[in-house]
Amino acid sequence: MYKNILTELSDRILFITINRPDKLNALNIETIGEIGKAVRAAEHDPAVSGIIITGSGPKAFVAGADISEFADYSVQEAIQLSKHGHDVFNHIEQCIKPVIAAVNGFALGGGCELAMACHLRLASSNAKFGQPEVKLGLIPGYGGTQRLPQLIGKGKATELLMTGGMIDAQQALQLGLVNYVTEPADLLSRCTELMKTINEQAPIAVSEIIRTVNAYYHIGKDGFKEEIDRFADCFATEDFREGASAFLEKRKPVFKRS
Ligand code: COA
Repeated sequence: MYKNILTELSDRILFITINRPDKLNALNIETIGEIGKAVRAAEHDPAVSGIIITGSGPKAFVAGADISEFADYSVQEAIQLSKHGHDVFNHIEQCIKPVIAAVNGFALGGGCELAMACHLRLASSNAKFGQPEVKLGLIPGYGGTQRLPQLIGKGKATELLMTGGMIDAQQALQLGLVNYVTEPADLLSRCTELMKTINEQAPIAVSEIIRTVNAYYHIGKDGFKEEIDRFADCFATEDFREGASAFLEKRKPVFKRS
């Protein structure tokens, strides 16, 4: 069904593996389109509760956008390329189901941007992060100039963007770019464990958390107003009835999955 990604459903979690290991999983246009398609399908699939995105092979999550594809691009083509990436990465960020990046090696350029579009990031100890576009005479084109400062602060983000330097997993952890660092062999099981913990919670509330946290970063949106509205909406859900009843009845809640 897909040419550049593998998909596997296990325990209600959709694993998307970017599968171009001989190119260090570099993102060509087709691969970005396939990731977008898989995420959209998962969002509408009641069998899926969450998504984990990773890269094929031991070396790379994604080593960037595919440089060979855009080397001869005109300004107009570059606009289309960037818009396409923005559409897909914005969709991942706004996905109503939790998306975790399992960063198993190089996450450079578009790879770092893809990881940052996910809601949470776990890194294997051999992971390396960076936005090396400046070395190519470019700036990031898939949201990196915006999401990197959001995640690690303006000063350090500007340094990484201006120098094109790489940081290792421990530095990424210290900066808040990743949530946890694991041994490479434990990466997927740790991501699965975290996803399962999230999936035990009320699913509508999890979606509203994604929406409300994102609102903080959207210019023109009042995140505090969004929180009031979404908080109130929760009161109309079966999840809230079940969660509150379960607490009062001193039992574990059983939330319905659509
Ligand atoms: N686009 C296209 N091809 C890429 C790529 C990218 N972003 N990153 C790696 N590849 C390809 C290489 O061209 C090479 O292909 P080949 O065997 O056909 O020549 C293959 O993947 C392996 O990469 P290689 O450079 O030989 O591995 P390495 O271990 O020596 O170096 C990196 C790893 C990640 C440091 C290096 O590949 C690199 O700097 N990649 C580009 C990173 C980048 O600038 N990303 C931002 C793009 S906007």
